[in-house]
Amino acid sequence: MRVARVEHDTEASRAWKLRRTPRGAVAVRDSAYRDAAVLPTPKPTRSASVAGMTEFVVQTDGLTKRYGDRLAVDRVGMTVRRGEVYGFLGPNGAGKTTTLRMMLGLIRPTAGSARVLGRPAGRPEVTARVGALVEGPGFYPYLSGRDNLRTLARYRRLGPSEVERVLELVDLADRGSDKFKGYSLGMKQRLGVAAAMLGSPELVILDEPTNGLDPAGMADMRRLLLGLARAGQTVLLSSHLLAEVQEICDRVGVINGGRLLRESTVADLRGGPTVRLRATPEDAALAVVMRLAGDDGVRRGDAGSLEVDLPATATPELTRALVADGIDVHEITANERTLEEVFFEMTSEEVLP
Ligand SMILES: Nc1ncnc2c1ncn2[C@@H]1O[C@H](COP(=O)(O)OP(=O)(O)OP(=O)(O)O)[C@@H](O)[C@H]1O
Ligand SMILES: [Mg+2]
Repeated sequence: MRVARVEHDTEASRAWKLRRTPRGAVAVRDSAYRDAAVLPTPKPTRSASVAGMTEFVVQTDGLTKRYGDRLAVDRVGMTVRRGEVYGFLGPNGAGKTTTLRMMLGLIRPTAGSARVLGRPAGRPEVTARVGALVEGPGFYPYLSGRDNLRTLARYRRLGPSEVERVLELVDLADRGSDKFKGYSLGMKQRLGVAAAMLGSPELVILDEPTNGLDPAGMADMRRLLLGLARAGQTVLLSSHLLAEVQEICDRVGVINGGRLLRESTVADLRGGPTVRLRATPEDAALAVVMRLAGDDGVRRGDAGSLEVDLPATATPELTRALVADGIDVHEITANERTLEEVFFEMTSEEVLP
């Protein structure tokens, strides 16, 4: 078995259980998940050609930023591929904005390097091909949304039709003549994304684009980002809202305390689906489960439960096998871990001995 044996409760197994099941804290975060998921959005289906591409749009190597004796970013090596939506995940203070700033050439790394579109970050020929929204949009409050964008467009030698295109894209065309200061937070964020999209950049970097939005605003933003993704746009977005990211991202990088803990697809990070089971006698139930899921396919959960590595479709067969052996089934539920749970486990592992 891959985990602590049922009958042993060693220091190691207790530590393991602690890490694996920080249930209380997850439950608190679950409410945020439900709020964010008020309007469920279908996952984008990527074309095979996009999935097959391996061209790196962003590549960092040992990227480090030190402020005094604080290591804000610690030897981060991450890659964003062309055509993907990459979620850069981490709690407050993890180092997300600092990393993105280095990618954009806004601040200089203390050590290491960032390459964007095959060139060193911050080169003028690179910045012209990258759109960004970092830590809240900065706009003139007394100008309209449209005029704010026109100001930016003029600077980048883009015409008024490009402004209209991006206003349409973020669904702000009919409010484009309103003053920026009269916009709702969601509209301000959308205008920020519109600004990042001016000139159809090859890469769009969005730092917490859903920051401060209510569930409806988040759903709007998610739809907008999904639209960009479907159009083949490469998007790198940071977030501390994992439920958001699992809906729209192809791959994620998890950062905490300045270090990149993991970089993988959302599916790999979440692992396979499991079935949660409570049945007695426990030892007899364990034997049946191991027969179906293999010795490595079962772990001890909370309150005498078993976590079994089987898909939801296997629950009828599992139930039949248990009942056939005279075992009482008290509870059986299909269970797919959210990215939020995985993330929480990962970051709490960091602080536990
Ligand atoms: N200019 C600065 N001077 C000193 N310390 C800084 C500076 N910028 C960032 N830091 C520190 O670096 C760490 C990472 O900050 P950063 O803003 O990158 O985190 P973040 O992941 O974007 O967090 P949030 O989710 O709150 O936006 C923090 O401890 C922060 O206090
Ligand atoms: Mg930040």
